[in-house]
This record gives sequence, structure tokens and C-alpha cells, in this order.
Amino acid sequence: MSDGPVGVGLLGLGTVGSAVGRAFADRSRRIDAAAGRPVKLVAAAVRDAQKPREAGDVPVTTDPHSILEDPEIAVVVEVIGGTDPAGELVHGALENGKHVVTANKELVAKDWNALHESARHARRELRFEAAVAAAVPVVAGMRTLGAVRPRVLRGLLNGTTTYICSRMEAGSSFEEALAQATAAGYAEADPSNDVDGHDAAYKLAILISILEGRHYHPDNVRRTSLRGVAAGGFSAAAARAARIRYLAVADFGDRATKARVGPEEVPADSLEGQAAGPMNVITLESDLVPRLVWSGPGAGGDATASAILGDVIAIARARG
Ligand code: NAP
Ligand code: HSE
Repeated sequence: MSDGPVGVGLLGLGTVGSAVGRAFADRSRRIDAAAGRPVKLVAAAVRDAQKPREAGDVPVTTDPHSILEDPEIAVVVEVIGGTDPAGELVHGALENGKHVVTANKELVAKDWNALHESARHARRELRFEAAVAAAVPVVAGMRTLGAVRPRVLRGLLNGTTTYICSRMEAGSSFEEALAQATAAGYAEADPSNDVDGHDAAYKLAILISILEGRHYHPDNVRRTSLRGVAAGGFSAAAARAARIRYLAVADFGDRATKARVGPEEVPADSLEGQAAGPMNVITLESDLVPRLVWSGPGAGGDATASAILGDVIAIARARG
């Protein structure tokens, strides 16, 4: 990149992509000032060009490869989700000399080695702060902890399940709570990824991979679905001054790291017990630093766009 404008292309213009589009429309001066140069949203690829959207005035195309081939675009932001066609597009973007920013935790968690190798080979950046805990800078935070021996990582990594638990303890049914989480833009396109724990397992695997400096495959995370918790389970927990939350836990033993996600009881007055809505909480215990805690909004268009734009700005600054 020269020190001229940095062109950005979006793959996907759904909940997250539209929030990125609106941010470019609303606050381009702030983004340019943070980047130290103009940053311009050039185009976005979608499936259905006729769908009404609130995404600023970005031109849309149904040909994602045109984004990869556009010489005006230096940074490709992938917010399609899933592995196909997102994987092929991300690898293609790197091969075409684009930097990549993605919110796609499934792709990053499963394809960790090949993606990092593609980026290294292309000498381009691959950034994914938005893939874990949305606005909460926990990917960056974990990267600063290379010298510590982690002991336990524990927390709430999925906003939809925290939302469902907090609504069900207030009397909503599972179906009502899930419908509200979907309407708010917190749930995955297929919400079984949230309630059956795939999403939390991908995020936990990414954090373990960063802390251990090698790929930890999400298939190694033991998953228990939230669906097994009946409404009565929430009132029974309340009677014990407890709450049910969808916990993600990694135990870094001497020999092997054991990881699990699933519904567990936590004290009602704990950080996890107090969390409601799409709040994420991540606590890391290690040898050099006894306890570090991150928390904040872990799902939703604007919260995720904040992390994506942070990555875009970092690339624009570093590559100036
Ligand atoms: P979404 O609302 O389902 O949006 C997906 C977008 O991708 C849509 O605009 C869709 O086009 C487009 N798309 C799908 N297939 C395509 C194809 N073959 N070619 C071009 N465009 C295609 O999903 P989202 O909630 O924005 O999530 C996107 C990613 O961000 C996922 O990886 C998700 O896990 C991650 N994420 C989401 C959140 C959140 O709170 N929602 C937070 C953090 C990370 P149409 O609009 O035309 O259908
Ligand atoms: N579906 C995800 C969640 C979006 O509820 O946490 C944020 O990654």
C-alpha cells in the first residue's frame, strides 16, 4: 500500500456487514483520523442484490470474486460466515495480495493452520478480533500473554445463550428468548450453532490456539447443548442463589488441555451470574498474572463492526 486511500471490500452485507457499511457512512472522518489516511468502503458482495438493507450507500455485487480482483481494494472483510464459500474466498483474497479481516470464528477455528500459512506466504495480514467476543478486545489481549503459563480460561463466549438464559430466568420460554436473540441480530444464521455450543467451541478453540501458539481443533472441545435445560432448572438454580449460564472452560493441565462448553450453575452474584443480554465475560488465570478479566458486548452488528474496523484501521496504519 502507498500512503493514499485504503480501499475496503466487504464479503457479506447481513447483520455485521450492514453495521460496517453504516459505520463507514456515519463516521468516516473518525475512521480516517484513526488510520492516519483515508479509508474508503468500495463495494460489498451479497447473495441477493434486491434485498432491502440499511448499510449506507455501498455499491453491491453478487460476484464476490470481483471484490478479490478489484485493484482499488487492499483489505477484504469477510462477513459471510461458515466455511463454504468463505474459506475459498479468504484464501483467494490473500493469494490476490489483499489483507483479510474476518469475523468468521468457524473458519478461523477449523482452518487455523492453512489460513495462517496462506497469510504468511502472501505476506499479508489476517486479523480476526471480531471472531471472539465481538467488541471485547480479547484476541489482542491473549496475544500479549505469550510469557504466561495459562491455568484456567473460563467464561461466557456466546451472547445468544447468555441472552436466552437471562430471559428464561425472567419467565420467557426457550422459543421466545431465541426468537428475541435472533431479532436482535445476536444469533448465528443457523441458531443451532449457538444453542448446541458450536459457536462457543470455535471461540474457545481460537483463544486456546493463541495461548498455546499452536492449533487447538474445535472438535476437541466437549459440547453439551443448552436445549437439555428445562424452564424449571432456572427456578431451581435461583432457589440455591445460583444461575445457569452457558460456560466455556479450558483447563490447561501439564499434559493436555481439556476444554468444554455447556450449561452450568454459577453463583448468582458472580460475574457470569450477573451477565445478561449479549454480554461476554472471559477470565484467565495464569502463573505470572493470577487473574485477568475481560467483559462487554459479545454479539450484535455494531459491537462486531467496532472490532472489524479496529482491525481495518490497524492494517491501514501499519501498512502506511
Ligand atoms: P448474516 O446476517 O447471515 O449475513 C451473511 C451475509 O453474507 C449476507 O449479506 C448474505 O447475503 C451474504 N452471503 C451469503 N452467502 C454469500 C455468497 N455466496 N456470496 C456473497 N454473499 C453471501 O450473518 P452475520 O450475523 O452478519 O454474521 C456474519 C459473520 O460474522 C459470521 O461468521 C458470524 O459468525 C460472525 N459474527 C456475527 C456476529 C453477530 O452478532 N451477528 C458477531 C460476531 C461475529 P444476502 O444478504 O444477500 O443474503
Ligand atoms: N452468535 C454469536 C453469539 C455472535 O451469540 O455470540 C457473536 O459471535
